Amino acid sequence: MTHRPMFAALVAFTVLGGLSLAAAQERETQNQSARPPAKDAAHEHADLKHELALPKHGVAVLRPTEGNKVRGVIRLDERDGGLHIQGRVNGLTPGKHGFHIHEFGDLRDPKGESAGGHFEGEGHKHGAPGADEHHAGDLGNIEANEDGVAMVDIRAPWLKLHFVLGRSMVVHADADDLTSQPSGAAGPRVSVGVIGIAQAPQPKAKKAPAEKKTN
Ligand code: CU
Ligand code: ZN
Repeated sequence: MTHRPMFAALVAFTVLGGLSLAAAQERETQNQSARPPAKDAAHEHADLKHELALPKHGVAVLRPTEGNKVRGVIRLDERDGGLHIQGRVNGLTPGKHGFHIHEFGDLRDPKGESAGGHFEGEGHKHGAPGADEHHAGDLGNIEANEDGVAMVDIRAPWLKLHFVLGRSMVVHADADDLTSQPSGAAGPRVSVGVIGIAQAPQPKAKKAPAEKKTN
């Protein structure tokens, strides 16, 4: 008598187990019939979708590190298979300043040290952007005029935006000598910003005929 509940449970378990197994097999059969034939066209389409999903436009808003006043906005737009990096930095001392993409977008350190070293890519040595060997993040120098303003316009054909998203752009107090290891002896970090995804540049609005200002 005492075995009966256990027996009933065993029967129920077996039946339910069998049912769920059958259901799983049914689902698998349906999946197989729903699956498109493995054709190359289907794969190409999937790859294209993946490619389109990669962001192509980025921006870094540079803010001063502790004790500095250097600010800027840098756009990074993927174009012709590389990155076009352009913008404006102000509050600089006149002359050249090292300008790099550093490994981390971590700006917790007030002096910018938590941004890490130069973004290396494939472990090359530090160098000029045009040299045979340089870090992926080596962008050379930007040069400030007498007003402390530097206009930035750099082509980096070796970069894609998704390589550098979430990393940081760093402006240094001194010039990058383009040879010293590991970072061109460019001195302290005076301005840092994380590279984020931006909206695509909007076509410049045509200048409308002068309107009466209402505000
Ligand atoms: Cu740097
Ligand atoms: Zn470097």
